[in-house]
Amino acid sequence: MIDRRAFLAAPVALAACGSGEAAVVPIERPVPSLKSIAPFPIGAACMTGQLSDRVWSNLVSEHFSQLTADWEMKMEYILQRDGSFRFDAPDRIAAFARDQNLRLFGHTLIWYAQSHPWFEALTGDRARFAAEYDRYIATVAGRWRGQVVGWDVVNEAVSEDGQGLRDCVWSQGLGGIDAYILRAFEQAKLAAPEAVLFLNDYNLENNPVKGATYLRLVERLLKAGAPITGLGTQSHLDIDIPAGQITVFMRELAQFGLPIHVSELDASLRDDGRLPDLRPRRQRIERQTARVAELAEAFMALPRAQQFAFTTWGVRDIDSWLRRGDKDDGQDSPLLFDAKGGANPMFHAAANAFAP
Ligand code: XIL
Repeated sequence: MIDRRAFLAAPVALAACGSGEAAVVPIERPVPSLKSIAPFPIGAACMTGQLSDRVWSNLVSEHFSQLTADWEMKMEYILQRDGSFRFDAPDRIAAFARDQNLRLFGHTLIWYAQSHPWFEALTGDRARFAAEYDRYIATVAGRWRGQVVGWDVVNEAVSEDGQGLRDCVWSQGLGGIDAYILRAFEQAKLAAPEAVLFLNDYNLENNPVKGATYLRLVERLLKAGAPITGLGTQSHLDIDIPAGQITVFMRELAQFGLPIHVSELDASLRDDGRLPDLRPRRQRIERQTARVAELAEAFMALPRAQQFAFTTWGVRDIDSWLRRGDKDDGQDSPLLFDAKGGANPMFHAAANAFAP
């Protein structure tokens, strides 16, 4: 059993880094097994390319108890242009999870961002669109029935600014926003009746307007009889949001009494691209660890029955989607572990919150 006081007393070091700024790094702090100290599953997003990476698999074995496919269980991977399906990659992830005694979480069945030519060609034929929609959900959600513990049935239904809901190929094909969401949950329940069925979205803590719209959508869908049995908050945290905002939203989310999944935690240190972030890295890390601590503590404060899982969107900084593409500055440290598998300050923030 780890000693919570040990963390608080543990010294930190100021180490020089490339830019000449002092970075705050913990020295010789005990690194407990996160899944051993947390009273709920600890998840991580993964890709098949990571499964054979020894550093990655050792960290997963030590700290995690659940996996989510980063993208290889999505429609963009599974559904082919001719309407056929390919499952090689998600099956490998499912087999790895089974062999390593890890829970498997399904992400995601229906997402506005994953329009697909197969469906775009059917938007004028509602009956065929609906038949193919049902077939896709039945086939995918049914494939790992009994292994997948939960599904993000519908992802990101609320508009970017939080002022409304997204119109998308699914609402166009099925005659309305509530129509596509209700149908997705009904079909998912038929295909995977044992799985917890989630409505998942992002920026719910960062943007209170969006959080409120999401909560109103949940309330309306539940009243309409949607079999939503879990609520997912992605938690791609903005490290500069006011203290307390995360706590307030988590309490509001808990009001439905449903299991809650922190489904995609990361906390970028990068500026938002509008203005260069001139703050010392140490100051950004302090804000990052404060927000992660607040999220972890708010999750810990939930009743155990509502603590579905606490998932990070990757294991090491180099595994993060934020470290890919042209926006990557090579410096971001949005996850629990560094490239070598060392614990980042946000690991200790979470571990402190989870420690009994
Ligand atoms: C991202 C993946 O990490 C990328 O690899 C992929 O190219 C795009 O999608 N919210 C979600 C996730 O629900 O599915 C997204 O994952 C990140 C934002």
